[in-house]
Amino acid sequence: MKKVLGLVVILSMMTVMFAGCGENDAVADTGSNVATETSDTESSDAAQEDTTEANDTESSDAGSDSLVVGFSQVGAESDWRTANTESMKGTFTEANGYELIFSDAQQKQENQIKAVRNFIQQEVDYIVIAPVTETGWDTVLNEAYEAGIPVIIVDRMIDVSDDNLFECWVGSNFKQEGYDAVSWLAGYLEENGRTDEEINIVTLQGTIGSSAQIGRTEGVEEKMADYPNWTMLERQSGEFTQSKGQEVMESFLKSYDDIDVVIAENDNMAFGAIDAIKAAGRTCGPDGEITIISFDAVQAAFASMIDGDMNVSVECNPLHGPRVDEIIQKLEAGSSVDKLQYVEEGVFPAETAAEIMPTRAY
Ligand code: AHR
Repeated sequence: MKKVLGLVVILSMMTVMFAGCGENDAVADTGSNVATETSDTESSDAAQEDTTEANDTESSDAGSDSLVVGFSQVGAESDWRTANTESMKGTFTEANGYELIFSDAQQKQENQIKAVRNFIQQEVDYIVIAPVTETGWDTVLNEAYEAGIPVIIVDRMIDVSDDNLFECWVGSNFKQEGYDAVSWLAGYLEENGRTDEEINIVTLQGTIGSSAQIGRTEGVEEKMADYPNWTMLERQSGEFTQSKGQEVMESFLKSYDDIDVVIAENDNMAFGAIDAIKAAGRTCGPDGEITIISFDAVQAAFASMIDGDMNVSVECNPLHGPRVDEIIQKLEAGSSVDKLQYVEEGVFPAETAAEIMPTRAY
């Protein structure tokens, strides 16, 4: 596919910015394995970085033999997202034979749609999307399909009328993560002789409509049915950010004085919740009144567990750069790729945090 980059790309991207202010194989990876189901060149050139409200787009001019990848990222809402961006930028480098056009959607799907149209206009070789939400992709993916540009979905899933609109997806089994959180809580209560206690839970949900929110909420809800003495007092979105997580937790603490467990659908919201709990003069963690269950297992979550604030973090692995690279290399070689590729993940409780933390890659 033709590459139109360098100054032309930069000018074009800026124009858009301003205007719009096979089954069950395994794919090896440096981070962790991927279980499958069928189915920059970022030259960190500051002059090429756009920090307008609509998008934050970076591109670079690499050799003419390089593959041009347009990547639409969700945003920079969490530590997980930062690690994911670093993984993508660290993989799609000039040295690895790529030219990356990176676009930060600032958690807005409309920005992602603009970015994808821009990538189509630039005639990139591959479009990679980490979608904010699952729905709303049919029209723009039809446009990419018509243009003959393969689309790879990473991290969260999409819900489209025709699965041929994307080549494949690689990411986490978010529902399984929800199941794992409930299994951990059941085991923890049993170990502490609290199996028959009435347990009151609140949930800080992620961005409503994102796969990470849908899967984790559904997974927890489904498994909780096995424990009739557990009650979900309330669920509210903290939009995957620490500040919103803190705000929502403050309101939960005002509404309920009998919260036993907080389920935060990512680590950053858990950090906000912990701040709110402490500010209210309450305690949390293994030796506190409120049990904190989180998702992602980023470095700061391990630090929080070591500090005695968080009880457990269910892993969500963000190191997708090498996985997407492997997919692209297979497609370039004319090989087929598995349609759905699930990353294998673990559960990290506080008692193992000090030992595990030094081994973590993000
Ligand atoms: O889609 C993955 C989720 O998005 C991570 O759990 C969260 O931290 C991020 O914002």
